Amino acid sequence: TLPSKVRLVEVGPRDGLQNEKQVISTEIKVELIHRLASAGLRTIEATAFVSPKWVPQMADAAAVFSAIQPLPTVTYPVLTPNRQGFDAAMAAGAKEVSVFSAASETFSRKNTHCSMSESLERCRSVAEAAKAEHIKVRGYVSCVLGCPYEGEITPLAVAEVARALFDMGCYEVSLGDTIGTGTPEKTKAMLEAVARWVPLKKLAGHFHDTWGMAIANVYASLQTGVSVFDSSVAGLGGCPYAPGALGNVATEDVVWLLQGCGIECDVSLEALVNTAEWISRELGREPSSRVTRALRAR
Ligand code: HMG
Ligand code: MG
Repeated sequence: TLPSKVRLVEVGPRDGLQNEKQVISTEIKVELIHRLASAGLRTIEATAFVSPKWVPQMADAAAVFSAIQPLPTVTYPVLTPNRQGFDAAMAAGAKEVSVFSAASETFSRKNTHCSMSESLERCRSVAEAAKAEHIKVRGYVSCVLGCPYEGEITPLAVAEVARALFDMGCYEVSLGDTIGTGTPEKTKAMLEAVARWVPLKKLAGHFHDTWGMAIANVYASLQTGVSVFDSSVAGLGGCPYAPGALGNVATEDVVWLLQGCGIECDVSLEALVNTAEWISRELGREPSSRVTRALRAR
C-alpha cells in the first residue's frame, strides 16, 4: 500500500538554480522561496554555502538566506559541504543543513575534490559541529542509480554511503539519481538494499528527469514505502558535475501524482503552477513540467 501522506522537499532554489549560466539576482531567488512557501511547501532548500569558484550561482548564499522572511511553519535547509560552509551557514542564521557525498569515487572527486571516504569525513565534521549547536542535518548520496563517469553503481555501494550518513546523525538520507538513468525496478532494488541498514522512513527519493523516468521512479519509491521526495518547481535544475543532466522531477508533476493517488501533501497545485510559470518567465524558458503545460493549455 502507498503512504497516506508525503513530505516534499523543494530543492528548486538550490538544485534548480545552481547550474544556471545567466546571473539570477538575489531578489528573484528570495521571491522564489517566498512564493514556494506561500504555495504550501514546508521544506525549502534555500541555497548552498559552497565554493563560489566552482558554483558561481550560489555565491550570494548569505545574502539570499538573510533576506528570507521565514514562516514559522517552514524550514529552510542549506547545503554545506564542509566546516567552512557550515560556519558560513551558521553566521547567516541557518537552522538546518545538508551534507552530501556520493556512491562513486570519480563523481566524488569531480564534485568535491576528494575521495568518498574523505568526503564522509567532511560530512562527519559538519554533523558533529551541527550536533553541538542543535542543528538538524540531512544527508545526500549522489549517483545512486548510475554515475556520469563510472556507469553502473551497485546498490551495496549506495547502502554503505547511506548507512555512514545515517550513523553519523543525519535525520534523513536523500538518495540522488544525479543523472536520471534509473528505472523503476532498479530503483526498487536499490531502495531495498539501502533499507536493510537505514529505515525506509528515514529515506528520501531525489530523482533527476534526464531520461524521463523521474516520475516513474517516484511511483516505484512510493510503492516501496518511501514517503519523502525532493523536487524542483518547473523541473528546474541540473548538476554542474553531471554534464547534460536535466532538472529534478517537477514539483507540480509530483503533486499531481500524489493527488491522483489520494495522498496528502498540503501543497496548492494552483499556486505552485503560478510560481512555475513566473520563474520560467524570469529565466526566459518554458516550464519543463508537463502538468504546468497541460494546465495552461486548458
Ligand atoms: P576544497 O576541497 O577546499 O578545495 O573545496 P577547492 O580547491 O575546491 O577550493 C579551495 C577554495 O575554496 C579556497 O578558497 C576555500 O576558501 C574555498 P581560495 O583560497 O582558493 O580563494 N572554499 C569555500 N568557499 C566557500 N564555501 C565553502 C568553501 N570551502 C572551501 N564551503 C568544496 C571543496 C566541496 C567546497 C568545493 O569543491 C565546492 O564547493 N564544490 C562544489 C560542490 C557543489 O556545490 N556541487 C553541487 C551540489 S551537489 C548536487 O547537486 C547533488 C545533489 O543534488 C544530489 C544529486 O542530485 O545527486 C545534492
Ligand atoms: Mg540533485
